[in-house]
Amino acid sequence: MVSRAETSGRMGGRPVQRIAFSAEEIAARVATMGREITSHYPRGQKLLVLGLLKGSFIFLADLVREIDMPLQVDFLVVSSYGNGTVTTGDVRLVYDPEAELAGKHVLLVEDIIDSGNTINRLMPMLLRRQPLSLELCALLHKRISPPLVREARWVGFDAPPEFLVGYGLDHAENFRHLPYIASL
Ligand code: PRP
Repeated sequence: MVSRAETSGRMGGRPVQRIAFSAEEIAARVATMGREITSHYPRGQKLLVLGLLKGSFIFLADLVREIDMPLQVDFLVVSSYGNGTVTTGDVRLVYDPEAELAGKHVLLVEDIIDSGNTINRLMPMLLRRQPLSLELCALLHKRISPPLVREARWVGFDAPPEFLVGYGLDHAENFRHLPYIASL
């Protein structure tokens, strides 16, 4: 558990409601997921791990160090909104990975699946590039989305229906650096 003083410092004095997942819980779960991912892919295969920025940056960094096989890392940036402030449900690729997807085992890494819109728009785009396989790994899943185009094969935790920050997740770009996940 995180001490009150540490919480207060990183939060700039702002209190958190509660720690939803401690750094220790996250580390243990990520290590397990790394082992499961390692054993899923046949030996000798190469893996391309694609992190969806920005939210996945810490999760991805920890996860790849728990995967015991040759792999490459690249990132995607998507924009979930149209021009206005109201979501249109559109997902646009703003940064496209330089790595070729065709013929590779691709593992997409997400921090959280909420409405499922991002994944449901992105998966078909990636599938059109004909990867050898395409799997999804999400640290958190709110389980409120309609059926996903491709359900996550690996999920860290079912997320409570709260606004979560930390370990990559933000509120107005703040709090991504918390080593735990807290509800605001
Ligand atoms: C968040 C999160 C997921 C997405 C999930 O990204 O990182 O990518 O929303 O929501 P959905 O299932 O309702 O589509 P955000 O657009 O906030 O960008 P960020 O990763 O840069 O924080």
